Amino acid sequence: MTEIELLQYPDQRLRRHAEKVKKFSNESQEKVNQMVAILYETKGHGLAAPQVGWNERVIIVNPLFNKTKDCVILNPTITNKSSKTDRVLEGCLSVPITSQYVTRPKNVTVSYFNLQGQKRVLPFSGIDAHVWQHEVDHLDGVLFIDHIEDKSVFEKELEELEKE
Ligand code: CO
Repeated sequence: MTEIELLQYPDQRLRRHAEKVKKFSNESQEKVNQMVAILYETKGHGLAAPQVGWNERVIIVNPLFNKTKDCVILNPTITNKSSKTDRVLEGCLSVPITSQYVTRPKNVTVSYFNLQGQKRVLPFSGIDAHVWQHEVDHLDGVLFIDHIEDKSVFEKELEELEKE
């Protein structure tokens, strides 16, 4: 099994639109295992498949930090967003700059399938809502910095990443 590589900004593979999962193979399970290991190692809240160059709609959420019992999330969609917003500090393993405040809907409903093929529809709020929106964004090639209008505060840090 080849080891997965954690992609970092400005890698263009982070900008792709990920494909729907149709079949979950042994190879998929291998990738998931490695992603879970990264997540636990970094104590992160979530990791999306495109971050490791896997162009399918899979995200891993750390069950330690939110109320779902599922760790591996397939084909998630945000089915409802509140008009009320919330500002939360966010960071990303693929964009290793200082954490930044991001404004997003405060409450969301997420629909997804777990590894057992069961459909789940769950509401999330606060930090959890931010985590889910952040991870689902990755599946559409969107990074958290895209949500921040004033990029001047971390412009230098981004430039450093672009040089690497
Ligand atoms: Co991220």
